[in-house]
Amino acid sequence: MSKVEGRAGIESIESVDGDTSFWTDSDALVSCLREAPPRIPSHFGYDALGSNLFEEITALPDYYLTRVEDGLLRRHANDIADELGTPWIAELGSGSAKKTRVLLAACAARRQTTFLPIDVSREMLVSSGDALAIDCRDVTVRGLWGRYEAGLRWIRRERSTPVTVTLLGSTLGNTTPTERRNLLTEITRTLAPGDCFLVSVDLIKPAHIFESCYNDPPGHSAFVRFRLNHLAHINRRFDGDFVLDRFQARAHYNEHTHAVEGHLYATKDHMAKLRALDVELKFRAGDSINVGFSAKFDPSRFVDNMRQFDLIPHTHWIDQRWKYGLFLFHRR
Ligand code: SAH
Ligand code: AVI
Repeated sequence: MSKVEGRAGIESIESVDGDTSFWTDSDALVSCLREAPPRIPSHFGYDALGSNLFEEITALPDYYLTRVEDGLLRRHANDIADELGTPWIAELGSGSAKKTRVLLAACAARRQTTFLPIDVSREMLVSSGDALAIDCRDVTVRGLWGRYEAGLRWIRRERSTPVTVTLLGSTLGNTTPTERRNLLTEITRTLAPGDCFLVSVDLIKPAHIFESCYNDPPGHSAFVRFRLNHLAHINRRFDGDFVLDRFQARAHYNEHTHAVEGHLYATKDHMAKLRALDVELKFRAGDSINVGFSAKFDPSRFVDNMRQFDLIPHTHWIDQRWKYGLFLFHRR
């Protein structure tokens, strides 16, 4: 059941994924917790606190992704807006949508533009939607609260005009290969021939760059708090008893899978229970729980792989230092 609610600023926030019940949808969580090592799916990192902690991460000196992408969007917003040509622009995992504003302003200067941010963080939808409605007065903002698949389902049902789906921030990388295939399949199902998919990804680099990027530098703790918050969040949702100070956060780059893995390592032997799920996890000192993948991509392989999803490369923009890429595809 979905609900529309009028607000000052943002036109509406619609609950597309069963109000808060998606947070307690335990199927994916239980199967991820059964992996070795156990894993917590990425969206559990983004309750209200986690969303703010991610914003803190984007300001860390070595976390270059947001700054480089922001530069690309600012430099190329007009070219991208010329190419898009669709009245609806949906953004999967929009978060603060700060970087998206320049693109939306360029789109609104060319055509009537409705922005559909899709996010599990209701708090981010409210604050980003209000900020957008003030900064980009010509853009109509309709927030879709829920998981990606539910937002895409809503678009399939409600669409009456050409649509662009965007997935910025290298958020596509926060998926396992199977999750990524499923998500890209859903995106393709949602797009009509000629619709656009604008996606940005972080590019493969030497491991030491990622290890500085994804661990806190001295004097900062945003990454440690972001990773530990996954445990606090699932404790709250599923009557859990994870003790946060029995874990230490550390991210490392896996050169075989081209993914940064964020782990929480148990500092001593212990058990943790999630009573609502009837799940018990046993940790020996040094065992870990995976709280995040950040896959990195080779640009030409990335573009080629998208053909299997009927996404035809149109243009891409890569920064001068070859760190990060923004890729535009058309649906065949
Ligand atoms: N695109 C923004 C935010 C990236 S953080 C940027 O580039 O800065 C990832 C965002 O995706 C968060 O706001 C989080 O709440 C959202 N998110 C993560 N998994 C999601 C899912 N399965 N469905 C919907 N939103 C999700
Ligand atoms: C949001 N995402 C693209 C960030 C990244 O760099 O992968 C932060 C993150 N999310 C989950 N793990 C890490």
